[in-house]
Amino acid sequence: MATETRETPEIGSSPAAGVSGDAWNQAIATRKTAEAPGARIPGAQASRPDVDASRRQFIRASFFGGLGVALLGSVGFLLDFLYPRGVKGFGGPVAAGKVTDYAKGANPKHFADGQFWLVNLDPAESRPGGSGGASGLLALWHKCPHLGCTVPWRAEFNYEGDQGWFRCPCHGSTYTKSGVRVFGPAPRSMDTMAIDIDAAGNVVVQTGDRVPGGPDNAKRAIKHPQLPS
Ligand code: FES
Repeated sequence: MATETRETPEIGSSPAAGVSGDAWNQAIATRKTAEAPGARIPGAQASRPDVDASRRQFIRASFFGGLGVALLGSVGFLLDFLYPRGVKGFGGPVAAGKVTDYAKGANPKHFADGQFWLVNLDPAESRPGGSGGASGLLALWHKCPHLGCTVPWRAEFNYEGDQGWFRCPCHGSTYTKSGVRVFGPAPRSMDTMAIDIDAAGNVVVQTGDRVPGGPDNAKRAIKHPQLPS
């Protein structure tokens, strides 16, 4: 069976052999050179506004979500880096011997590395610079609440006829054995620190756990059955 081949007419070309001139011109005139307006081109992707919008939202959400996770990670890393661990000396727990090391009513002991004084108050020491009637172990921050000078215990210092006080060398603020301010420009009494005593009687002062001093300083002293009486 013979196969018929049809030649595609080109504009301006001569009629093919065996084709009349009119037929050739008609074929050229009906040849499509452009799609009609609105006609669909097979295989072309139609643009859909709702699909484009949701794709943009997804990309935006992914971007900001990733940014948030990265920021959270950075902040967490920074906090972890800055968090104090294993602080030794001032700012952390400082060992201060045994409770049996502190004779009742004796002069306060100084711990320079922890910046505190430790004293076993005798309730019978009723002198003006004494215990204020309280008993127990009390830790006092040695920093003067006025301008921060280190406050020494002055066993020989006499103030208003009574001997033995904490006395700041900078501007003369004066404190009782329990750190209560009685004279000078300091705005308050000496600050106190928390004390832990374990079952074996070991004393640890939490130098980072401080409370502003006040007239109730002596009442913050802690009692322990092994404290010398
Ligand atoms: S710093 Fe102690 S009285 Fe001024």
